[in-house]
Amino acid sequence: MFVNALLLRIRLYFCSSKFTMNLSEHLNHKVFQIIASLAAKEGTPSYVIGGFVRDLLISGSGTAPMDIDIVVIGSGIEMAQKVKACIDEELPLSVFKNFGTAMLKWGDTEVEFVGARKESYRHSSRKPLVENGTLEDDQNRRDFTINALAISLNPSDYGELLDPFGGLKHLEERIITTPLEPGLTFSDDPLRMLRGIRFATRLGFSIEAGTLNAIHQHRQRIGIVSQERISDELNKIIASAKPSTGFLLLEQTGLLEIIFPELQQMKGVEEVNAMHHKDNFLHTLEVLDNIALKTDNLWLRWAALLHDIAKPRTKKFEPGTGWTFHAHEFIGAKMIPGIFRRLKLPLNEKMKYVQKLVQLHLRPIVLSQDIVTDSAVRRLIFDAGDDLEDLMTLCEADITSKNERTVKRHLKNFQIVREKIIEIEAKDSIRNFQPPISGDDIQKIFGIPPSRAVGIIKNAIKEAILDGEIPNDYQAAYELMLKEGAAQGLSPQKGASKEETREEKTREEKTKND
Ligand code: CTP
Repeated sequence: MFVNALLLRIRLYFCSSKFTMNLSEHLNHKVFQIIASLAAKEGTPSYVIGGFVRDLLISGSGTAPMDIDIVVIGSGIEMAQKVKACIDEELPLSVFKNFGTAMLKWGDTEVEFVGARKESYRHSSRKPLVENGTLEDDQNRRDFTINALAISLNPSDYGELLDPFGGLKHLEERIITTPLEPGLTFSDDPLRMLRGIRFATRLGFSIEAGTLNAIHQHRQRIGIVSQERISDELNKIIASAKPSTGFLLLEQTGLLEIIFPELQQMKGVEEVNAMHHKDNFLHTLEVLDNIALKTDNLWLRWAALLHDIAKPRTKKFEPGTGWTFHAHEFIGAKMIPGIFRRLKLPLNEKMKYVQKLVQLHLRPIVLSQDIVTDSAVRRLIFDAGDDLEDLMTLCEADITSKNERTVKRHLKNFQIVREKIIEIEAKDSIRNFQPPISGDDIQKIFGIPPSRAVGIIKNAIKEAILDGEIPNDYQAAYELMLKEGAAQGLSPQKGASKEETREEKTREEKTKND
């Protein structure tokens, strides 16, 4: 199954009861040698365990690991301190006494040390009560068999794989399951339910039936996990190559309803008078997978996940028309801050970016179905600004029709929109457009304080430029301003001539550029 140099050895391992697997040639990082000699000298057997071993066996290469987890039969903190003392450079070491762990940062690599432990959990908390234990106790308390694989760093069997729970077989069979009875593993630490779904999504593995059932059974326990941890896992699922796998599993196990009810509500198809709408949950997942093929931008992926989030709220059956979701893009955009706040996602420009894309996601589609007028394209460029390319990517990902001809037609129309965008951009400077006459200018010229009239005149200038009624330049804007001002009973101040304000403008621009 693995396409790597370890394949033959893994097969041999399964064929022969005497064959042991030695992975010492892959322990290239200098830290392994240092730990090995300290383990021998101090009599504290040590092992590398967890993600490093799993990923080594999957990828077949042990180069440049980012995270190394070391388990020590003894004190993990003392081992970390001794390792630090053996290294010439001054490396940062963080000690977490309460957890009995220490983390040494060596260049890009984080090496985490922990003493082997037996753990038992209280019902209300993810914090375990810890007792010292053997390597096997420690492997037992880990989340999944594929994460419980360990490699010895001790003189008698350096490099040997220690796999008491069939983790290697499960890697080979691409299965996620737990070392202990799954209910116990998940009830102990419910975050593991999301970790399991994340690993299945990232690695393209399936979750063993009993393990999947246990997630369903213990789903309410997710309530004791902090929102930050939950969202961290959601982000990792969204960042995967095929995020739909994770969301389907979340839905299937009943976790989605608890952690993301708005998405759950998108599931299902309703039918009236033999007319049905599409399943918006499945459609959303298709869009998310489509966008994952095009971009690593996590927030663009979030926009794909949320683009139709208001469809359940806006759904209506209108006789003669069929199913409608009027204004779902605006209502969806309004829902974004609430969702981001609850999920403890950033409330800064990243949220605004997602909100903007959700709000605008129908605009290029509407454009592409209509005759593409210059003014509509100008407005789109103005409203989307620097996010226009991402918006077009989202809209192209939103085409999920099974009818090839329809897909082709849409893509062709989008191409026309894209060409029109290039043409208009070359002609007018609309992206990040600033009207040639500012609110300040209007106040000075008419000698009026900030007021509604200023806003009306400013807006009339902006609209006229976007509609292509006047060019995007000062002279034309000035003339329109006078006309709009006159309509409001305003006339220019004596002394505030066009030339003067122009001069002022040039002066201001020069200062800005300096
Ligand atoms: N672990 C666990 N239960 C958790 C978290 C971690 O049993 N809730 C154990 C697993 O053995 C895991 C190891 O601790 O392999 C290290 O955890 P972590 O660094 O979070 O994950 P990795 O498995 O290394 O994978 P990744 O870095 O890809 O998240």
